[in-house]
Amino acid sequence: MPQAQQRSAWSSRLGFILASAGSAVGLGAIWKFPYMAGTNGGSIFMLPTIAFSLTIGLALLTAEMCMGRAARGGAGTAYLKLGGPLWRPVGLISVITGALVLGFYSVVGGWCAHYLIEALMGRATVTDPSTMRAAFEAFSSDPVQSVGAHVIFFTATAAVVLCGVEKGIERVGKVLMPLLFILMLVLIVRGLMLPGAMEGVKFLFRPDPEAFTGEALLNAMGFAFFSLSVGSGSMMNYGSYLSERVSVGPSTAWIVLLAVLASILGGLMIMPAVFAFGLAPDAGPGLTFATMPAVFGRMPFGDLFAVAFYACLFVAALTSSISILEMSAQHFVDRWGFSRRAAVLMVSSVLGVVGIFCALSFGPLADVKFFGRTLFELLDYATSNIGMPIGCLGLSAVSCFVAWRTTKTQLSANASWSPAMLTAFRFFAGVLAPIVILIVAAKGIGLI
Ligand code: ALA
Repeated sequence: MPQAQQRSAWSSRLGFILASAGSAVGLGAIWKFPYMAGTNGGSIFMLPTIAFSLTIGLALLTAEMCMGRAARGGAGTAYLKLGGPLWRPVGLISVITGALVLGFYSVVGGWCAHYLIEALMGRATVTDPSTMRAAFEAFSSDPVQSVGAHVIFFTATAAVVLCGVEKGIERVGKVLMPLLFILMLVLIVRGLMLPGAMEGVKFLFRPDPEAFTGEALLNAMGFAFFSLSVGSGSMMNYGSYLSERVSVGPSTAWIVLLAVLASILGGLMIMPAVFAFGLAPDAGPGLTFATMPAVFGRMPFGDLFAVAFYACLFVAALTSSISILEMSAQHFVDRWGFSRRAAVLMVSSVLGVVGIFCALSFGPLADVKFFGRTLFELLDYATSNIGMPIGCLGLSAVSCFVAWRTTKTQLSANASWSPAMLTAFRFFAGVLAPIVILIVAAKGIGLI
């Protein structure tokens, strides 16, 4: 299994795809997508998200994997090795962005843990939908419960990472990813059968030009990057474990397809139920958790489905958080010579504390705002809409210009990329991506 300089390696192409898809598909699809769609005009958020993912998202993710594999290192190493010292800060920004994601992500992972425990105790179904929001708010604003839930989730993440790439991540991803998709399909069918559910489908798919704003577009782009984990170092780190025998292009295409599919399924699972129960689609980060209990309440074996759903959601969140902690810790192993164990423990301690403050953003620290946002909201916004776009600009420049020959070699390893395909890739990742990112960012913050 060990491949180069004692770095871990994926045991197979399928293992790599499933683990990487496990990293990409997580709370983004099931927690973030529904509430972002709900607060950003539904279809006007969904359609550009899909378009961004399938075009520049795919190209940049491929570029990220190529850089990681070529450099046999995460973002801190890869930018330095392939781009030179000038690009080092971008590598650091990517690592810091990824690490900060974990700060708030773990809070939502904790919510999954809490609802899983509730489901196991037979308390996850609700017959009166009007009580769900208050129940969610009572839990998330209670410092003991929300910090406790975050600590449970964070400890689980650190424990899996300490077990190592091969043992921990692959095994979890292989078993539970398919189960999560099946479960979502069942829940979608149930949700669509509720009276009034079609309004939710229309909200997601019917374009409404009047709801189009620059900010919604920036949010859609930020979400596309967030859901693919592109520009935040995790995928570069995963690429560094990838064998030269695997062709990068088809593998990343699978990952993007699965991530896009998961977001569409996430939207279809939540939004029809939101409309059927007369809930507010723009309820914010608690939307998924304040909706599903009523769906379970209207299903035969609802308690059983609730346990299975929250268990899968917990694991989907875990496979993503694992990749982030793995990447952040590996940075200290690669760049600073830490032992893996020491790196994991140190990074976990720091990010665990950041997570505590994020958890308190829903309760005692709700009024402590930075730039008009709580710490949770600030990290959520800044990582997707500032950090990842900067990481993507760096990816674009280094992979398509500074180190184009290396990228070409990586793309062509075990794959026959015709000159036309290479030119198309370079156009999407190197030209279109930065132009789109800069225009969307400028529009999003009102500069144009
Ligand atoms: N890409 C990860 C997710 O969507 C962070 O959950």
